[in-house]
Amino acid sequence: MALIDVDHLSFAYDATPVLQDVSMSVEAGEKLAILGGNGSGKSTLAQWIAGWLPRGTFAASEGGVAVEGRPWAELDAATRAGTVQFVGQVPMQQLSGFAFTVLDEIAFGPGNLQLPEPEIRARVDAAVGICNLGHLLERDPFSLSGGEQQRLSIAAALAMQPRALVLDEPTGNFDPESRDALLAQMEKLPAELAIVWCDVTLGAAMAVASRFVLLDEGRIAYDGDASGLLAHPRTAQIFGLPAVAEAALLWRAAGVWPEGVPISADPARVAAVLRPMLEVVA
Ligand SMILES: Nc1ncnc2c1ncn2[C@@H]1O[C@H](COP(=O)(O)OP(=O)(O)OP(=O)(O)O)[C@@H](O)[C@H]1O
Ligand SMILES: [Mg+2]
Repeated sequence: MALIDVDHLSFAYDATPVLQDVSMSVEAGEKLAILGGNGSGKSTLAQWIAGWLPRGTFAASEGGVAVEGRPWAELDAATRAGTVQFVGQVPMQQLSGFAFTVLDEIAFGPGNLQLPEPEIRARVDAAVGICNLGHLLERDPFSLSGGEQQRLSIAAALAMQPRALVLDEPTGNFDPESRDALLAQMEKLPAELAIVWCDVTLGAAMAVASRFVLLDEGRIAYDGDASGLLAHPRTAQIFGLPAVAEAALLWRAAGVWPEGVPISADPARVAAVLRPMLEVVA
């Protein structure tokens, strides 16, 4: 059974449909990217996956989302928090407002679970390491830069040790160095943690995910591996192809790219494919 199952979900905030007959699942430990242009419905779908929707007057017009077969509404708050953590695309909205320091912000969630003090400390230390926040622990969360706040939000989510982490444009405020640092740290996350990475560009998602869902005007236009995504006609139109992916597609057309190896837009993955071939030439 899938960890999270989106089943024929149709949804509108008002009269305009935002998600239309969306069916997809997130398996335990899966690294999944939800990609699409502005307004395609990524954040809305992410909020459904994370159990933030339905809420208030916002309900599905058809279908719904289940966690291991049970609707979100049946789960208590602690189970929900330990199942999925959602980091939204506006970092300041993620801060609890109850913490005067970065350290307290990260410890806030585990503290609410009333975990023993050493357990809280261990969780905070691990999250601080992954998100490179050691030098900012005594700072007021609201005094951080946008990129620092984004790293703090991710750390606070990780400290809850969820089974799935939904990240909405997580590197939107990052400079390239911070982005690469986060991507390197993502590889150190537990293999059993599912990642749902929503983005408007291909690069970072290609480094993290092995499965790609392309949203186009609230519908799933593609669900599959990187090669299929890059070959999909809407991909180049929505994102433009990164030069490295365009080169890899040309090499494949010329018969240079090894048979059966997926095309990627991640420079590191393309380099890893090319390196042995260049060594043979040298
Ligand atoms: N609370 C809301 N009330 C009304 N409409 C909304 C609300 N939130 C989102 N929408 C609309 O739903 C559509 C999808 O929005 P959503 O934020 O899910 O897209 P997105 O793919 O995440 O876009 P972006 O790349 O800009 O973040 C947009 O047309 C948006 O204006
Ligand atoms: Mg969005």
